[in-house]
Amino acid sequence: MQVIGIDIGFGFTKATDGKRYRVFKSIYGEAVELQYQEALLGNNEGVEHLQIDIDGAGYFVGDLAERQSSSRQFTLEQNQFVASSSKVLALAAMSCFLQERQQGVHLVVGLPIGHYRQYKAELAGLLRATHDIVVTNAMGERKEIRVAVSDVRVIPQPIGSVMDRLLDNNGRPAEQRFALEKIGVIDVGFRTTDYTISDKTRYSERGSMTTQNGIAKAFSTIAAKLKENCGINIELYRLFEAVETGNIKIRGKGYDLKKITQHAFQQLAQNIAADANRIWTDDWDIDSIMITGGGGAVLATHLQPLLEGVIVPMEQDLDYRLHNVRGYYKFGNHAWPIARTPNQAVAGAAVVQK
Ligand SMILES: Nc1ncnc2c1ncn2[C@@H]1O[C@H](COP(=O)(O)OP(=O)(O)OP(=O)(O)O)[C@@H](O)[C@H]1O
Ligand SMILES: [Mg+2]
Repeated sequence: MQVIGIDIGFGFTKATDGKRYRVFKSIYGEAVELQYQEALLGNNEGVEHLQIDIDGAGYFVGDLAERQSSSRQFTLEQNQFVASSSKVLALAAMSCFLQERQQGVHLVVGLPIGHYRQYKAELAGLLRATHDIVVTNAMGERKEIRVAVSDVRVIPQPIGSVMDRLLDNNGRPAEQRFALEKIGVIDVGFRTTDYTISDKTRYSERGSMTTQNGIAKAFSTIAAKLKENCGINIELYRLFEAVETGNIKIRGKGYDLKKITQHAFQQLAQNIAADANRIWTDDWDIDSIMITGGGGAVLATHLQPLLEGVIVPMEQDLDYRLHNVRGYYKFGNHAWPIARTPNQAVAGAAVVQK
């Protein structure tokens, strides 16, 4: 049995087999014949080449699609997300961990809060199958893979971060408080922010919501300012590095982004906190609040003073974008235990419905 956790976000797809992590942009496009190896000098090591054939169609995925595919799909079309994009992204993520023939793969996949109820059965049905895929590496070598996915669990994305704190790598409860408390989770992503409540690990529909207040909102403000100053439309997903360093070079000229970034982040944090305080008005008995997601890392210092409640400090041992997916992996080991005595079960395995 192999457990793989996959978190398909609108910004990034994150996956782990418990030993390794893969993160790539949630973008794919038609595979084209590459005339030249990309790096003209030096080696290709560390440069991601994710190319996969599914049902006879070839795809570039992640950075490779961004650089080389002429027609690209982003997963931002929410309605088509499950039907079209999730299968390509999930199989691409899985392919990173697979042997040529792999039986008994068990998947735990997260869906955004807003999609959970409507799509969980469809997504599980789509993935629970035997898939024949072909993976092509940067040297053009093709490898055929047959993967039998025997079981799939779908959980609301932010619950992964609670599972990550509650369970150890073998899926056994490590920090009981996360099984006993009522925890509000704010998951700030690229496109969306998800709010949810884990009440003794039970998912509460009432305290859950998705808004469009992702980091992309702040990036749009920054991009609009740049457009004003230099007339260029910068694609939002290209801003992450510039925002990190505080500078961007456009046509050779440097622009300082620090002030506008601070302003945009503060504004976004205010909106996110106001939503949290409003959605959870009736849930005044929340014990603590967790901030997670890649955007959570960026906004935590702005958000904390604005939230009403006790904040659980996030563990700093891992990129914030990966806490959900590490939780999925741990949950998989909990849901499909190799050998487990009954009293080690977590109260709320109910979080996940088949
Ligand atoms: N190393 C990094 N590289 C890129 N972005 C990062 C990094 N670390 C943090 N971030 C931030 O993480 C955000 C994406 O977070 P995350 O992967 O949780 O979003 P997502 O789950 O794809 O989006 P959504 O929740 O809207 O579906 C980016 O917008 C960026 O601000
Ligand atoms: Mg996310």
